[in-house]
Amino acid sequence: MSVDKLITQNFRNLKAQTLTFHSDINFILGNNGSGKSSLLEAIFYLGHGKSFRTNKIDSLANYNSESFVISIKSHTSKQLGIAKNTLTGSTEIKLNGEKLNRLSELAINFAVQIITPESFKLFFGGPKERRRFFDLGMFHVKHQFSNYWREFSKVLKQRNACLRNPTQYQMLGYWTDKFCELSENIAGERTLYLVNLKEELLLWLKILLPELSDDIHLQYLQGWNQKKTLKDILDTNSIREKELGYTTSGAHKFDIRFTIGKLAIENILSRGQQKLFLLALTLAQAKLIEDVKRVKPILLIDDIGAELDFNSRTAFSLAIKRLDCQIIISAIAKDVLEPIIPSDNNYKMFHVEHGEILEITG
Ligand SMILES: Nc1ncnc2c1ncn2[C@@H]1O[C@H](COP(=O)(O)OP(=O)(O)OP(=O)(O)O)[C@@H](O)[C@H]1O
Ligand SMILES: [Mg+2]
Repeated sequence: MSVDKLITQNFRNLKAQTLTFHSDINFILGNNGSGKSSLLEAIFYLGHGKSFRTNKIDSLANYNSESFVISIKSHTSKQLGIAKNTLTGSTEIKLNGEKLNRLSELAINFAVQIITPESFKLFFGGPKERRRFFDLGMFHVKHQFSNYWREFSKVLKQRNACLRNPTQYQMLGYWTDKFCELSENIAGERTLYLVNLKEELLLWLKILLPELSDDIHLQYLQGWNQKKTLKDILDTNSIREKELGYTTSGAHKFDIRFTIGKLAIENILSRGQQKLFLLALTLAQAKLIEDVKRVKPILLIDDIGAELDFNSRTAFSLAIKRLDCQIIISAIAKDVLEPIIPSDNNYKMFHVEHGEILEITG
């Protein structure tokens, strides 16, 4: 789905207002501190149930408020909303007027990906962010994945509780067997997904980073040594795991590394190249989500001007023409957008000032 209307109340500095977006391309212009990132953050929050820039939920509500509301009407007239009380932590989630118990039921309708000036630091900074990135694609492309994942998370919790409590050691074998089976299932789904992603990535790298496209390789680490069975590894490590109180190998430890020769790409690529690489990867994943034809992906790009020169922005504009996805791009000034603005006038542009967002027409 794509965002037709967005309404926020008491979200950061944004004024209570209804915005109507273009189904394909939208530009958000505004000075530092005007509210561009806040607007993208509101949309991201609805897709992920969290911010891309803070874990502190109370910083999301306006200084003068203890709650905020974000709601969206899609171009297919679906209505999605979240109301959050930052004092009590309570959340109300609604889809077409009906209350939902789980955020994932909302998120299944809504595939939001974001690139910010900080994205590449996070992505290359550690496996957690990489897992989050690829699991979003898995969630939307492989429908078994969310069921497997929910069950896997429960079993992992049980197994960890068992490891921490000697009175439950007799159950460890049971949870280990279940854990191994689910880890294998998830690893199998991920392997299939990554074969497609790898092929797709190459196409987008040829547009965005042509000089390096053939040299970048993807390495999938499934979360345990592939030469051994997970069961053997866990049995061998059981004394250590009981001391630590958690499971050290399995599908929750998976990672994806990208290399050129023997080196990780983050040690080779310049900052601009790292951003282009991440754009290629994000567009590749958006294409795989789009191909499933259940949701139309939404791409948020915060501060497109950061790190990207004119040629890179031109390559980016060629790339997004190949994608059927809603894109919302923020920038400080219009000149940065020149190579990206479609010549057929088929887009919308907004200006943000002190949290008030106005459409620029004409
Ligand atoms: N909880 C909050 N309540 C009210 N205002 C807030 C809150 N959190 C942040 N702000 C303010 O909201 C404004 C918008 O911040 P935002 O990060 O969206 O700006 P921006 O347009 O992305 O700026 P930049 O170009 O510097 O990235 C800032 O002035 C910030 O100080
Ligand atoms: Mg910003």
